[in-house]
Amino acid sequence: MKKNFLVWLVAIMAGLQPVFSQSASITEPGVAIFYPADFDSIKTLPSLAVIKDLPKRDSLPADWAVRPEYFQVDGRNAVRFNLDEDIDLYGTGEVIGDLRRNGTDVTLWNTDNYEYAKFEGKQLYQSHPWILGVRPDGSSFGILVDNSWRQEIVLDEDAEIISEGPSFRVIVIEKENPQEVMKSLANLTGTMALPPLWALGYQQSRYSYYPDTAVEELADEFRKREIPADVIWMDIDYMEGFRVFTFDDEGFPDPAGLNDYLHSKDFKSVYMIDPGVKQDSTYFVYQQGDAGNHWVLDSLGNEYNGEVWPGQVAFPDYTRPETQKWWASLYQDFMDLGIDGVWNDMNEPAVFDGPDGSMPDDNIHRGGGELPKDIHLRYHNVYGLLMVRSSREGIMAANPEKRPFVLSRANFLGGQRYAATWTGDNSATWDNLKMSIPMSLNLSLSGQPFNGPDIGGFTKSPSADLFGNWIALGAYYPFSRNHTSNDTEAQEPWSYGKKIENVSRTAINRRYRLMPYLYTLFHEASENGMPIMRPAFFADVTNEELRDEQQSFLLGENLLIIPKWAENAAMPEGDWQTVQFEKEDDGYQATVKLRDGAIVPMGPVIQSTEDYSTKQITLLVNPDNNGNASGTLYDDAGEGFGYKNGEYSIHKFTASKISKNKLKIDVEQTEGERKTDRQYRIGLVKGGKVVYSNWSSGKKLTISLKK
Ligand code: GLC
Repeated sequence: MKKNFLVWLVAIMAGLQPVFSQSASITEPGVAIFYPADFDSIKTLPSLAVIKDLPKRDSLPADWAVRPEYFQVDGRNAVRFNLDEDIDLYGTGEVIGDLRRNGTDVTLWNTDNYEYAKFEGKQLYQSHPWILGVRPDGSSFGILVDNSWRQEIVLDEDAEIISEGPSFRVIVIEKENPQEVMKSLANLTGTMALPPLWALGYQQSRYSYYPDTAVEELADEFRKREIPADVIWMDIDYMEGFRVFTFDDEGFPDPAGLNDYLHSKDFKSVYMIDPGVKQDSTYFVYQQGDAGNHWVLDSLGNEYNGEVWPGQVAFPDYTRPETQKWWASLYQDFMDLGIDGVWNDMNEPAVFDGPDGSMPDDNIHRGGGELPKDIHLRYHNVYGLLMVRSSREGIMAANPEKRPFVLSRANFLGGQRYAATWTGDNSATWDNLKMSIPMSLNLSLSGQPFNGPDIGGFTKSPSADLFGNWIALGAYYPFSRNHTSNDTEAQEPWSYGKKIENVSRTAINRRYRLMPYLYTLFHEASENGMPIMRPAFFADVTNEELRDEQQSFLLGENLLIIPKWAENAAMPEGDWQTVQFEKEDDGYQATVKLRDGAIVPMGPVIQSTEDYSTKQITLLVNPDNNGNASGTLYDDAGEGFGYKNGEYSIHKFTASKISKNKLKIDVEQTEGERKTDRQYRIGLVKGGKVVYSNWSSGKKLTISLKK
């Protein structure tokens, strides 16, 4: 009461109008939901972030720590959380800057932000109204502000969210550690669907490989040089005048033939599709959109047009169920050409001649079905999410037996359900290379596990040294794609001479060797929302030294990745042992450390996931002081949905000492019906070396601990 009075007094003095009255309740253990007094569900619901019903179950306990205070500032609806000074803050989505978000602010307004230069980089391509807080004792909370309107997150002494829309509900998660908060967030907003295995491979892109013969030569070059890779990307120049769902007659006369060629070389193809449809009455997509009345309207109710790559375009109104269906249907013939994945770009939406690079706030989205009609200010931040939801449905319908893969530039909290992401138009600078780690980590801590930046940088051309450093780190991003712009130098791994070509091969070889572990992490993320790339502090949530460590990061729970350039990276306690993959030190490779008590499954070098097999698995082990360690391997067909019907396996590995100098590993299949005739060997990681046992069927798996 006393505190409320004080808040009220300060607010009056600052010209703010506090709104105290609200309802608060527990909706499930550790999750509270708050509604402001003037809540009008039509204005912010149904939520596009939260996919669960949130009934009011119990009353809020008196000692519930993190509570919103609703207030108004300059007529805008806002919410404030008084936070203790010693809380470390993370999340807030796709942001530049440090991992620890204390003292920062961000505007949630999806923005095409070339080189992150506009708005001081504080508005990027995606919006995540989400804050993760970690207390000194490791106990943690999450704040989910459940609306899509333009809003600002200001993290100062307290956390404030100031919206330009109507008042909104807030969900607060309270758990014993940040890991549990991430799982709870996934429970509310859904998880990434398990991608096809090929999407975990190394990927090569540029704006644009042209014509088709250049794409074929590129594929040949990878195979000739034995640099593993899975995917080649087709940027906008494959289209006829940038008209989506068409092909340039000269450069790409036979896309099915090109895709066949790529498949014969064990490559997959991903093609770009932007939302803007060229205003051209002779073009089938525009004709269909026009006939179906599918476009976003201006404030007067006329078709809205703005400029993107093809010139003046119209924008599908994905809030309309009819438009979602129509858009999805366009993928049928497209995917039939043997296209494997889709890249949805410019879906903030970017409009070159529109206000602040997008469409006017008062444009009209007509809705229908579950979504009400409303202005662009409400739907802007979810335009990309709605687009990829519809794209994904179309891809699924076209290839019901395959797992869809969609990459999206714009998205919103919860959008991991539909698409992976990359961090847009970064630059070939050291600063951008270093920043890619906290960027990817905060996206990961905002519910999006499948992300990464353009390796090498999109704008500008990296020096050989910068590229070498980038690829040596890029092998460990969850999404590992080299991409560059149309006015830059060649950026293939061999473009910098023999030395950097070798550096690239070594780094990418390591990614493929770690594929069994990586795929296990992707599976975990798809099940419970645990990030793949995790901040170092996840290794010990009570060690405050780790809270701002952003040079190194964890892959899953068991591997710590320390880039070559890292200086004095804070190390979690314990006997983390360096894994030696290759003999030579080329001056670029990241240090990969294995946690004590961990077992990590590793495979052989392969040239693409087409050759992936778990028939021979090396179990890298770093026993703890007592000689114990454990680990997991998930395995399935890598494609299709058989895994949903038991066609998968999970094996648990448990290491223990059988005598003073002898270690054994027990192998047990704990889940699934998939049977694999598999051989194992132990790789004991110690003193910078890996000592291998003989291969065995896994029944008698032992290794001597003597050196
Ligand atoms: C945008 C994308 C970039 C792409 C380019 C051309 O700038 O962010 O990745 O290459 O458009 O399509």
